[in-house]
Amino acid sequence: MAEQIIQFRGVQKAFGDKVVYDDLTLDVRRGETLTIIGGSGVGKSVCLKMLIGLMTVDKGTIHAFGESVSEFTNKDLLRLRSRIAMLFQGAALFDSMSVEENIKYPLIEHNWGTEAAMNKRVAEVLEMVDMPGIQKLKPAELSGGMKKRVGLARSIAIEPEVILYDEPTTGLDPVNVRRINGLILSLQERLGVTSIVVTHDMDTVFTITDRLAMVCDRRIAFVGTPDEAKAHELRYLREFIKGGRGVLDEDI
Ligand SMILES: Nc1ncnc2c1ncn2[C@@H]1O[C@H](COP(=O)(O)OP(=O)(O)O)[C@@H](O)[C@H]1O
Ligand SMILES: [Mg+2]
Repeated sequence: MAEQIIQFRGVQKAFGDKVVYDDLTLDVRRGETLTIIGGSGVGKSVCLKMLIGLMTVDKGTIHAFGESVSEFTNKDLLRLRSRIAMLFQGAALFDSMSVEENIKYPLIEHNWGTEAAMNKRVAEVLEMVDMPGIQKLKPAELSGGMKKRVGLARSIAIEPEVILYDEPTTGLDPVNVRRINGLILSLQERLGVTSIVVTHDMDTVFTITDRLAMVCDRRIAFVGTPDEAKAHELRYLREFIKGGRGVLDEDI
C-alpha cells in the first residue's frame, strides 16, 4: 500500500456553538489525487486550512510527513507550506501586483534564490500552465480561467509535494473546467505531486480522482474510489453523484 503522508485522526473543530467536525479521520497517500466533496458549509475549506496550520484543531491530531502539525512553531509552519501549497478558493491574486510579482511572492517568502533564478522559475511555471510570456500583465487584464491558472502557477512555483485545491473549477465555463482538470492531472503525472481537491463538480471528481472523500455529519462519511462511491448505499452520496453538482449547491 502507498505511503500515507497525511493523517487526520479524531479531529474536532468548532466555532463557538457551531461544531464543524466531531471526528475527522482521513489518510492521504503519496501521489494520489483525493477529492473532497460535501454540501455548502460542511467544513471542506476548514479541513484544508487546518492541515496547513491556518486554523488550529480543538482536539485530535493532524500529521504531515510524520510530524504533528498542531505542535508546529511558525517557522515549522513556513517549512510545511513549502511542501504543501494551497490554491485558495477564488485564486486570490494580489490585484495591484503583476503576474510576475504575484508568482514571486512565495518564492521570496521561501528564499528561492537570486532575482535571475526567480525570473527563470516564473517563466517555467507560466509555461507549465500554458501561459508563457504574460509576466507583466495585471490580474484585471486576465479572464477568470487565466487567473486560476496564474494562481496555480504561483502554488507550484516552490515545488510543493502536495497541492491543495479549494474549488479550482467553481465559476468557470466548461472549456476552462476541462483545462484546469487537465493541468491538475498533468502536474500529478509530470511532477508526481499529491493533490487534495475540494470540488462541487462531478465531472471533475470522475476525471481526476483516485479516491474521493465525502464530508457529512461532521465527519468523513465515505472514502473510496469513484466506482465504490457509485455502488455505495449512503443515500446522500448517491444523490450527490446523481445530482451532478450536489444537492446542496448554493456556495458558488
Ligand atoms: N473563521 C471562521 N470563523 C467562524 N466560523 C467559520 C470560520 N471559517 C469557517 N467557519 C464556519 O465553519 C463552517 C465550515 O466552513 P467551510 O469549511 O468554509 O465550508 P465549506 O465546506 O463550504 O468549504 C461554516 O459553517 C462556516 O461558517
Ligand atoms: Mg469552501
